[in-house]
Amino acid sequence: MSVTIYIPGDSGALALGADKVAKAIEKGIATRGIDATIVRNGSRGAYFLEPMIEVATDAGRVAYGPVSAKDVASLFDAGLVSGGGHRLSLGDPEKIPFIAKQTRLTFARCGVTDPLSLDDYKAHGGLTGLANAVAMAPADIVKQVADSGLRGRGGAGFPTGIKWKTVLDTTADRKYIVCNADEGDSGTFADRMIMEGDPFVLIEGMAIAGIAVGATKGFVYIRSEYPHAVRAMQRAVEIARRAGVLGVNVLGSPNAFDMEVRVGAGAYVCGEETSLLESLEGRRGIVRAKPPLPAHKGLFGKPTVINNVISLASVPVIMDRGAAFYKDFGMGRSRGTIPLQIAGNARNGGLFEAAFGLTLGAIVDDIGGGTATGRPVKAVQVGGPLGAYFPRALFDTPFDYEAFAAKDGLIGHAGIVVFDDTADMLKQARFAMEFCAIESCGKCTPCRIGSTRGVETLDKIAANIEPEKQIALVTDLCNTMKFGSLCALGGFTPYPVMSALNHFREDFKPAPVAAAAE
Ligand SMILES: Cc1cc2nc3c(=O)[nH]c(=O)nc-3n(C[C@H](O)[C@H](O)[C@H](O)COP(=O)(O)O)c2cc1C
Ligand code: SF4
Repeated sequence: MSVTIYIPGDSGALALGADKVAKAIEKGIATRGIDATIVRNGSRGAYFLEPMIEVATDAGRVAYGPVSAKDVASLFDAGLVSGGGHRLSLGDPEKIPFIAKQTRLTFARCGVTDPLSLDDYKAHGGLTGLANAVAMAPADIVKQVADSGLRGRGGAGFPTGIKWKTVLDTTADRKYIVCNADEGDSGTFADRMIMEGDPFVLIEGMAIAGIAVGATKGFVYIRSEYPHAVRAMQRAVEIARRAGVLGVNVLGSPNAFDMEVRVGAGAYVCGEETSLLESLEGRRGIVRAKPPLPAHKGLFGKPTVINNVISLASVPVIMDRGAAFYKDFGMGRSRGTIPLQIAGNARNGGLFEAAFGLTLGAIVDDIGGGTATGRPVKAVQVGGPLGAYFPRALFDTPFDYEAFAAKDGLIGHAGIVVFDDTADMLKQARFAMEFCAIESCGKCTPCRIGSTRGVETLDKIAANIEPEKQIALVTDLCNTMKFGSLCALGGFTPYPVMSALNHFREDFKPAPVAAAAE
């Protein structure tokens, strides 16, 4: 009987040599005359173990990792195809602590199934949510999403159900669903991972959104730096269309919904929803003033739902298991699960889906395993380049939108970037201002000019030119940017700057002059 060997084909695993491993395994199968099928699955998200291969044995799946091409011969010698023991054996992948401790709702299939097999998708619960949705009235779908407590995972945490209701209630001849797959935040990869590892879940989520609000067309806007995700989504859309999941009669119902993939040219600000719409319409990505909201006047001037990949990919499980099931996870007004992305100087880097509420300390120390360098953790930047730096003193903050806001931080897209004690927080503050200056769309003055002045002022602190005066100036400038910018690029850059200044003030003092030799 043919044995199935899973070798991740997602870009994270590829970057760590998964293709070389696959080639070596193909060769080993051929030369040893083994009857085996290779499936290029997604990653389970434990990137510190990638490339992690799995073999489907009679007793279940057995994992090995991290595997390199040179390990392959010894793996075959150890009886890889029957799950034989080897120094790289990890046993049942579901029992690896990093994986076992997760609550996988949105990422339930990622790393488990063949990403482009619709049969595999269905065999693992796929399309049940959509099948339920096509039998419901649009307003009831919207209500179910609203009742689940789902909030946008792209950054702002806006309630998804309210957004959908606004589009549902707006009359128009055409409406659109736009999926924001620009994923520009530093240290984040959840969107990419799910598009490469379980693309049908996003398609299903978008189709449900379309049926819920009366939109018949959707677009996924993916950054050009994600060629594997672009390919996976394009192929999955074709497969879904051929199978009648997309098209004029979604799952045989009277509802029509189709979608296409669009590739962005690559600018951080193109992740901002109105800028993204400009880009999607073929213009330069410049932020639009609001109102009108995209829900009223979005793509091509029509009512548009614009949601992050993870927001949309979380909808199928809500429509499958119910609002109450989803809402049962989490804390406060942060309901359900969130894919935490642990990156930077972390020992166990990867994606960890968990219910809201874990403390930052538990995430960094217990799950992330501290720093890769083994040095003490000095700071953690949460929420991408516009997120605040958290010192250890704030590690008791639970992962919850409101709790982070109360500490002058944000959850954003749940990127968690770890820094050890060698980090220079003045340099990090400068980097934030410089990033804003480079990425600013230029529409408003506080951001366009303020960020450049911010870099200059922080440089003066580093050069010990009246540092106390510069600190007062930077504080004032941050207030102007925070309250005077048109969008969150200029408006949130003060978060990393001020958190660095407030929590790591010692780094904003000039370096002590070495004592002259006696
Ligand atoms: C500068 C900037 C960059 C952004 N980048 C992204 C991004 O890459 N992906 C994303 O989903 N949202 C991004 N957002 C947030 C979007 O504007 C918007 O809130 C989001 O797409 C809405 O979807 P959600 O409600 O599902 O989160 C960005 C916002 C700003 C201000
Ligand atoms: S804050 Fe910056 S990115 Fe946003 S609109 Fe103003 S100039 Fe453009």
